[in-house]
Amino acid sequence: MIVVGGPTSEALAFKVANELGVTAGKLEVRRFPDGEKYLRVLCDVQGQTVAVIQSIHHTPDELLFEYLLLADTVKDLGARKVIAFIPYFAYARQDERFKPGEALSFKTVSKLIESVGTDEIYTIDMHQHRVLKSSEIFGIPSHNLSAMPLLADHVKKLGKFQNPLVIGPDAEAEQWAKLAAERLHSDYDVFEKKRLGDAKVEIRPRRSEARGRDVLIVDDIISTGGTIVEAVKILLGQGAKRIQVACTHPILAPGALEKIRESGVEDVIGTDTVPSPISVVTVAPLIAEQVGRNGN
Ligand code: R5P
Repeated sequence: MIVVGGPTSEALAFKVANELGVTAGKLEVRRFPDGEKYLRVLCDVQGQTVAVIQSIHHTPDELLFEYLLLADTVKDLGARKVIAFIPYFAYARQDERFKPGEALSFKTVSKLIESVGTDEIYTIDMHQHRVLKSSEIFGIPSHNLSAMPLLADHVKKLGKFQNPLVIGPDAEAEQWAKLAAERLHSDYDVFEKKRLGDAKVEIRPRRSEARGRDVLIVDDIISTGGTIVEAVKILLGQGAKRIQVACTHPILAPGALEKIRESGVEDVIGTDTVPSPISVVTVAPLIAEQVGRNGN
């Protein structure tokens, strides 16, 4: 088994390889003077199972193309099997034609990934709202892992919050709130969210009562921060004592982190699926466990 990190996930691949006690495969990646991308695989992949790690965030078109170049090359060089680890999978939110004529980007991206000979795919807390199982999208074996237990363990280790009420800001977040609450031996609830625009949401509480409680808000993605800020307003209005926020993918659009910090939260953390100033939890053990299982 060889672990290779694409250009955006080199550091993560290094951590995964470290966990497994192997050396991560190396690449040479640069641009030709005309802007085209050059990629060269510097390790021998002949007959090997290759775990390709490449998170697709921020400049998703470029990073997706790098994945395609890398996986296709590895397969062409004789790899026996290519397993994609795409910790943040962009385009998963465009899983439906909301307006006539829109591109079904989620489907297009999955077809591209399969077209280069990817044999199996792992994602982490992939946005699954209307599409509930990744097998509805992918024609290859697919697995969606969750970083929530790792985030909850981190919160527990910090030991600042006692018996926190875990809140998911919308119905979809129930899966993550439940996982985190189980890990923290605590209770959870979710709010109801209506999206009014790319950066505007309306949130209503359901049955939870945060008065006097420490609260942990969990979500898959923080992008503009709008969702978290609205949830914080409700919780502070209810009289929550202290609020901590944890997300898997800190996409953090410009100004998002400042907005959240100013909203009155004590702390905000994320994982390294997307490198960011709040990526204090690594998903390397989660990936290493699966790579190890696939062995040679
Ligand atoms: C959407 O349903 C997701 O689970 C997140 O809640 C959303 O992507 C967060 O986006 P933003 O930070 O822009 O509100």
